[in-house]
Amino acid sequence: MDRSSSHDSINYSTRRINALLGSMPGPRSYLEIGVETGQTFFEISADRKTAVDPRFLFDSDLAPHHEASEFFQISSDQFFCEFQRDLKYDLVFLDGLHTWEQTYRDFCNALLVTHDQSIIILDDIFPCDVFSCNRDQVEAVMMRQFMTGDPSNAWHGDTYKVIPLIRTFHPLLSFCTIISDGNPQAVVWRATAPINDPSCIIQDQGLLNMSSLDYLWFLRNQGLYNPMNEDDALNLAMHSLKVKRKEDLP
Ligand SMILES: C[S@@+](CC[C@H](N)C(=O)[O-])C[C@H]1O[C@@H](n2cnc3c(N)ncnc32)[C@H](O)[C@@H]1O
Repeated sequence: MDRSSSHDSINYSTRRINALLGSMPGPRSYLEIGVETGQTFFEISADRKTAVDPRFLFDSDLAPHHEASEFFQISSDQFFCEFQRDLKYDLVFLDGLHTWEQTYRDFCNALLVTHDQSIIILDDIFPCDVFSCNRDQVEAVMMRQFMTGDPSNAWHGDTYKVIPLIRTFHPLLSFCTIISDGNPQAVVWRATAPINDPSCIIQDQGLLNMSSLDYLWFLRNQGLYNPMNEDDALNLAMHSLKVKRKEDLP
């Protein structure tokens, strides 16, 4: 997947995450699930950084890091299960295995290691075509090439199904989806008040049978993702958290 964008020369994840972290009072802590080459991780400006991936594509012993970076070469499930600590992260970036079960479990675990004014970013919640949402990465790429001749290796899996779950079962969370200037990503934060809007609840039988939430369902329901451009999304999250910080003051 192309990790750069037309917005400027740095990768879109780095740009968005650093903008959000920069708006928070320091010192700031950051957790990334699914790190791969570290293209994003190494560029993040935070006082404390945690990287989790069962297969880093770099030697974490030789990685350029300051003493406040830590590397866990294990799955996200292992990390959340074995390393329950007092630390609450200011920002968590979820970019691990692109299946809805794994991403939703990572998301629920991320809620446990964050605080009231944290942000969680979910990557890959907006498939770019029907091939991209195949749960099998190799098959997704092969089928696209075979059916259309397009050699793109874009793969989002069925991570998009996490958003209807968040809408339906987490009324204390607010979110929007960045759909400009790079791969779409959801930005999630704790709401100032519970969201009791019935339109937030997926009313059909879809959630009883997650496999019925197919690509056509996604195309029909993109409005549920609260899509907006990058600047509006970042400003909305930063403004909401500023209001929340003021309200939370004793
Ligand atoms: C798309 S890459 C991450 C890219 C990275 N976040 C970046 O911005 O440069 C996905 C990574 O998720 C990792 N991964 C796969 N299953 C995982 C799991 N169960 N827990 C954590 N990471 C996982 C893969 O090894 C892969 O390196």
